[in-house]
Amino acid sequence: MLEADHHVLLAQIQELRDIFQKWRRQAPGSWSAREKRLVQTWFRKHRLHLGTHFKAEEAMIFPYLTRQVPRLGPVLAKLEREHREIRRQSLAVETAFHALCNPGRNGQTGAPFCQKSLAMLRLIHRHVSQEARLMESAF
Ligand SMILES: [Fe+2]
Ligand SMILES: [Fe+2]
Repeated sequence: MLEADHHVLLAQIQELRDIFQKWRRQAPGSWSAREKRLVQTWFRKHRLHLGTHFKAEEAMIFPYLTRQVPRLGPVLAKLEREHREIRRQSLAVETAFHALCNPGRNGQTGAPFCQKSLAMLRLIHRHVSQEARLMESAF
């Protein structure tokens, strides 16, 4: 189940990256409604999903892997620290997204938000790719 999540997430990241790269060159007021809905839905699901996915990894998968392959200890500790950073960045960009979609703020440029969003996606992509490789080799 966690491995399926990883593959789904990697595909979603690709799609979101294209949207944020395009939005970087546009004023938030001209972002397409369809893409805004897509991003909004992704943030909502991602927030709910992060809780269960991270909890499963931290409570079961990481301790199991540490017992099975002790040399993975440091890398698993790093992955766990990244969970906190992913949560922090995800909440920050989600809040910024809602502020930019507020009609009163449409005159603002969306470029800093897009930069932060792309940085968040890079972090998630790196994290999930590393977990996917790790789980593939360990199980
Ligand atoms: Fe993780
Ligand atoms: Fe994961």
